[in-house]
Amino acid sequence: MTDSIINFYDELAEDYHLIFIDWHESIARQSEVLHNIIQSKLNLSCTDIIRILDCSCGIGTQAIGLANYGYNVTATDLSAVSVKRAIKEAANFGVKITFGVADFRTLHTDVSGIFNIVLSADNAIPHLISDEDLYQAFHNMHAKLDQNGLLIVTIRDYDAMVKKQITSTKPNVFDNGNRMAFQIYDWAQDGKTYTVHQFIMQRMNTGWKTKQYSTLYRAWLREELNKIMQATGFVNVEWHFPSQTGYYQPILTARKVE
Ligand SMILES: C[S@@+](CC[C@H](N)C(=O)[O-])C[C@H]1O[C@@H](n2cnc3c(N)ncnc32)[C@H](O)[C@@H]1O
Repeated sequence: MTDSIINFYDELAEDYHLIFIDWHESIARQSEVLHNIIQSKLNLSCTDIIRILDCSCGIGTQAIGLANYGYNVTATDLSAVSVKRAIKEAANFGVKITFGVADFRTLHTDVSGIFNIVLSADNAIPHLISDEDLYQAFHNMHAKLDQNGLLIVTIRDYDAMVKKQITSTKPNVFDNGNRMAFQIYDWAQDGKTYTVHQFIMQRMNTGWKTKQYSTLYRAWLREELNKIMQATGFVNVEWHFPSQTGYYQPILTARKVE
């Protein structure tokens, strides 16, 4: 399973920004929302003493934006090719971030240091299919937090998605009709997992170029996540919805201790 996830993101890394209408704008918008949540939860004014571990950083969408706010960011990911691109992008943005390759199921041994915040954004957690793997990931995130630490996870609204049996996204058409991105979902019979087919189409001089990437996700329901988080020791598990936050998917926060 791990190899297929690595292949998916290694292959996608160079094109990842093409999924967004404007990746730079998304970096700014997402980090503004995350910054507001961090400030409201930690109640601290000086950002540079707050240490964040973004443990599924990809090409750096949230890590770069948060480093821009002045946070002390360490960013890791399973995909070495994504991390390589994130290093390049962070240099383009002129921000200092400590990067590494790590699986969020083994953070405790793979990443040094203790953090005020552990972040996993944009639906990374559902790459884990079994309860055991998710337990392992939350257990490791818990271990990387200091006593007052805060976990932030952003994830698709699977409660809504499963209920509505959603099988695709609307095609997003960008760049005056020269680029298009959309996803098709093939659900397993038990409705617990689905294969995502990510399509990116670009108009070239010679015609349309289509790239397709596929990977398996678990449609984790909020109750299932809450239960596993509590089993790993997290407390004050809270869900923040797009209508409240302005973020494009639900945000889960939890504390290491009360
Ligand atoms: C949808 S991408 C989001 C990346 C980034 N947060 C963003 O929004 O641009 C999900 C990321 O999770 C990473 N990922 C998946 N499984 C992982 C694991 N077990 N440990 C660490 N990262 C993982 C993938 O490599 C990928 O970069």
